[in-house]
Amino acid sequence: MMRAMSLPDPWQHFVNARRARRVERGLERILRPGTRASGTRIIRNSRELVSFAGNDYLGLASHPAVRAAAASCAKEFGVGAGASRLISGAHDLHAQLERRIAAHRGSERCLLFTSGYHVNVGVLSAFADADTLVASDELNHASIIDGCRLSRAKVVVYKHCDYEHARAMLASHQGRRLLVSDTLFSMSGDMANVGELSRVARDTGALLVLDDAHGYGTLGGSGRGVLEEQGLDESAAHIVTATLSKACGSLGGYACGSDDLIELLLNEARPFMFSTAGTLPDISAAMAAIVIIASAEGRALRERLKTLGKRLREGVHRHGFETGGEAHIVPVYIDGPERAVALSRRLEEAGFIAPAIRPPAAPWNRSMLRLCLSAAHDDADIDGLIQALAASSR
Ligand SMILES: Cc1ncc(COP(=O)(O)O)c(C=O)c1O
Repeated sequence: MMRAMSLPDPWQHFVNARRARRVERGLERILRPGTRASGTRIIRNSRELVSFAGNDYLGLASHPAVRAAAASCAKEFGVGAGASRLISGAHDLHAQLERRIAAHRGSERCLLFTSGYHVNVGVLSAFADADTLVASDELNHASIIDGCRLSRAKVVVYKHCDYEHARAMLASHQGRRLLVSDTLFSMSGDMANVGELSRVARDTGALLVLDDAHGYGTLGGSGRGVLEEQGLDESAAHIVTATLSKACGSLGGYACGSDDLIELLLNEARPFMFSTAGTLPDISAAMAAIVIIASAEGRALRERLKTLGKRLREGVHRHGFETGGEAHIVPVYIDGPERAVALSRRLEEAGFIAPAIRPPAAPWNRSMLRLCLSAAHDDADIDGLIQALAASSR
């Protein structure tokens, strides 16, 4: 018989009220287990679905070289790091990967964290405090928002990509200032203008922190991300964060910056200090992925991703849909949250996972299907999705 400690009344009321509130707002979520058959295929209830809901943008999570690196590492070294880096979990593999990432990005130094979420929470809470004003784009990722909260800084949220708004807010503060932005926004799929952000940071004396989670590996000639895509080098920002869990197909995150800044993070970023270091197979997998990302094969995968993005956008436009963004995240805007949810359900019946994003995750007037492409999609996946979308919306 399963057992659980019974809840005191006030806690039972709290739990019931929270559930009722979620249900009333249509925000109750469930886990839908399945098997990941490949970069783009998920098997649920014995049905194979083509997924447009993942972040394995280059299909590297199941690349033979990446799998082999994880497997041979597990055989040789085992799995868990056993402790945080500062206690006894610092393995040569972590340091090698940090050097590899720093060399690839052309930055002074890199520090690994256990996830991209940890990096942003760690960076913001280490650099910002009650005397800091943080200017944050209204579409920044939840990990940035949570890092701002933990920092206890005064946070001002500027209108999406409105750098004059950010500038005015930063200029109004006397103490230290920090400007933080995603580079490629995870919901709207559009890119920040990093040159503009740099200018505002320079003019206002702000520390500039950029989150390149969706850009690293997928954009720029050598996969360095949005900065490279926009013709900039690492001197355009003080800190660039990213994840190893999207284009790199593994798990983990990193921050890159000057020696001084990374030294501060190593000593003061709490998610780095108080969480076990990344598992060794994950680190080896990420290393193998970055070797691919920086190679001609990586370049070809990025080209493929661009071609698929063009094909998808042109196809859905032909059927009268409006899309946003400019890269491999393609929001297809749908009138009203109920319609977006109904469309997503019909697409699943037709064999496609295309999640509906609605308020509060999307702006109130901007419900959408958020389609994430992978270089592992084939043309038939894209064409099939376009046809199903057109048929489902009739
Ligand atoms: C912009 C952005 N930053 C950070 C993260 C967190 O990365 P991770 O999944 O490695 O924790 C995500 C993940 O969705 C993201 O979209």
